[in-house]
Amino acid sequence: MKVFAVGGAVRDELLGHPVKDRDYVVVGATPEDMLAQGFRPVGKDFPVFLHPRTHEEYALARTERKTAPGYKGFVFHTDPDVTLEQDLVRRDLTINAIARAEDGTVADPFNGRQDLQDKIFRHVSDAFAEDPVRILRVARFAARFTDFTVAPETNVLMQRMVAAGEVDALVPERVWQELARGLMETQPSRMFEVLRACGALARILPELDVLWGIPQPEKYHPEIDTGVHVMMVVDTAARENYALPVRFAALAHDLGKGATPAAGWPSHHGHEGLGVGLVERVCQRLKVPGEVRDLALMTTREHGNVGRAFELRANTIVNLLGRCDAFRKPQRFVDMLRATECDYRGRTGYAGKPFPQFAYLQAVLKAAQSVNAGVIAGMFQQQPQRIPDAIHAARVEMVEQVVQARRPHPGGPDPGGPDPGGPNPGGPNPGGPDPE
Ligand code: CTP
Repeated sequence: MKVFAVGGAVRDELLGHPVKDRDYVVVGATPEDMLAQGFRPVGKDFPVFLHPRTHEEYALARTERKTAPGYKGFVFHTDPDVTLEQDLVRRDLTINAIARAEDGTVADPFNGRQDLQDKIFRHVSDAFAEDPVRILRVARFAARFTDFTVAPETNVLMQRMVAAGEVDALVPERVWQELARGLMETQPSRMFEVLRACGALARILPELDVLWGIPQPEKYHPEIDTGVHVMMVVDTAARENYALPVRFAALAHDLGKGATPAAGWPSHHGHEGLGVGLVERVCQRLKVPGEVRDLALMTTREHGNVGRAFELRANTIVNLLGRCDAFRKPQRFVDMLRATECDYRGRTGYAGKPFPQFAYLQAVLKAAQSVNAGVIAGMFQQQPQRIPDAIHAARVEMVEQVVQARRPHPGGPDPGGPDPGGPNPGGPNPGGPDPE
């Protein structure tokens, strides 16, 4: 038998990147040969073995044949006669179809090294079309290898796969898994660009896809286009190295702009409220984990209010903290502020601008947290129905001090303009500076 390192490890080594997992392909062996050498079988669908010492994965060389649409529906064929080249030809990209033998010699029948050098994602063969997950993988790789481009013929093939309904057959868990991984890469916008270019985005995330071509007010959004803005926001979150929930919130926060009436464009009054339903729909469809969904919903609902923070009265701010469950989950509130800061910085020319609302609302939260709810509850033991209002009033009093401290002339006019009053969860902006 012959053993070759294959796939991402060989690619990353050639690129000079750190290697995480190593995969091997074994040519000329039967499952019995592997067991005889102490390998442990792990493959459910096809023969994969773990090395007895290193626990790395060794798969028998195989061919595959598609039998049904979507992710599932393959029959695999392994046999000691299956050659290395037969195993490599069924793989996704030429840069992932390079093999290295134990003596260090490289087998590269599909010129993957050339494509690595030219920074091109090119499909190995028509077998690419048998697995629609590969569309998502190419998109995800684009977010990681930010100077690579998709070969035109690969884009055409992906377009054909989308037109044939292949993407619609993907299971939501798999779509989410790939999207989440792509969001965690260096430049997630590139994943969405690749998905747009082949038409897959309109199938997977139509709520996002429609944002391209929708204008925003140039005064607040020099980039104008909503899709362009959202991509800048997501890349800002990636640059800050934020966790997945913040990145997804950055992606989702403006979906409502795709639902505002065109007659009102470039304004998007009420888009926060409209966005909430759309984010819920996306999260349900893709089975987005609860923690990720909740931050996206909160950011969608509140990002306008956060932008207007300096206009809000203490009472309104305490209501905002309550809606966000900030007393029980302060870290999530801070994550919402992070996503909202990305929304602000993710505009042409805004990357380095200060966003003082962040520190302000953190200070406000700290002030409100200083209220000892237990002590107040103790004071109202005889009238427990009054406890919530009393706690609220005490918090408002503490927050008021922070609000006042920001005013240039105590008692003078509010520097932030009028207070919209009320909880205003995504309601129309009453005329203050429009953060949209
Ligand atoms: N592969 C494929 N089609 C898929 C999944 C995997 O052709 N849908 C092949 C590719 O040759 C890939 C290898 O299997 O390089 C290993 O897959 P995996 O570990 O998932 O991907 P990597 O390329 O190693 O990517 P990553 O660096 O993201 O782990």
